[in-house]
Amino acid sequence: MSDGALLAVSDLHVDHAENREAVREMRPRSARDWLVVCGDVADGLARFEWALGTLRERFSTVVWAPGNHELLTYRDDPSGLRGEARYRHLVGLCRELGVLTPEDPFPLWQGADGPVRVAPLFLLYDYSFGRNVAATPEAALRRAFDAGVVCVDEFLLHPDPYPSRAAWCAARLTETERRLAAENPSLPTVLVNHFPLTVHPTRALRHPEFAQWCGTVHTADWHRRFGAVAVVYGHLHMPHTSWQGGVRFEEVSIGYPRERRRRRSRSCEPRQILPEAYGA
Ligand SMILES: [Fe+2]
Ligand SMILES: [Fe+2]
Repeated sequence: MSDGALLAVSDLHVDHAENREAVREMRPRSARDWLVVCGDVADGLARFEWALGTLRERFSTVVWAPGNHELLTYRDDPSGLRGEARYRHLVGLCRELGVLTPEDPFPLWQGADGPVRVAPLFLLYDYSFGRNVAATPEAALRRAFDAGVVCVDEFLLHPDPYPSRAAWCAARLTETERRLAAENPSLPTVLVNHFPLTVHPTRALRHPEFAQWCGTVHTADWHRRFGAVAVVYGHLHMPHTSWQGGVRFEEVSIGYPRERRRRRSRSCEPRQILPEAYGA
């Protein structure tokens, strides 16, 4: 029997019918495949639950890291859940479905090229990537508003009970760093986060003003500090593989249907992270 593969996908955005169809068609290649889902599953709770529930029925293990979209609270959201309470509710839904979250012990992948610790992270962003367009976060935000490139989070991602999204990010960084540092350093990791851990991939953004909503400079060396064999992320909707300091970085978004129509490959298939040789 095959050892199975560690597969990853991100930015399912199942509010779009074509993306729901893509999720319906997503199948493991073997009964032991794991699937990592790096956030932006859906804007609403019902579709979030449907998508992860559908995938959980098919993959032997599903691991989720939250994106900004499942944390948005639209004005007509019947739950009204905001910020940390919304995140905790999503974690509760995942537990009911048997999906692993950043609040669970990091699972051990024992297939080929393992064992590795798979670590889903929830870190958010703190606007420090905005240094690409201005000297201060305030000036970077002003420039984004002037350019008309403003992330929806500014209006709908509420940081309650934290005073700001940057403060929420700081709290998440402290807690996550403590947990990663407590892991056995001899075991390699696969770090999973919705946002890129380094600023490098954001340099390819069409609108540089958007980078401030894409991560934090505080994780720039985490792939080295925490022994990553791969870093898996999404959010940019720019699927590709890159190497930084000898570590593989995989952006695994499927993104919006209109974005796929512009790409050479329209595939929504999850990317194989391990074993490293594709199809091995
Ligand atoms: Fe997204
Ligand atoms: Fe996102």
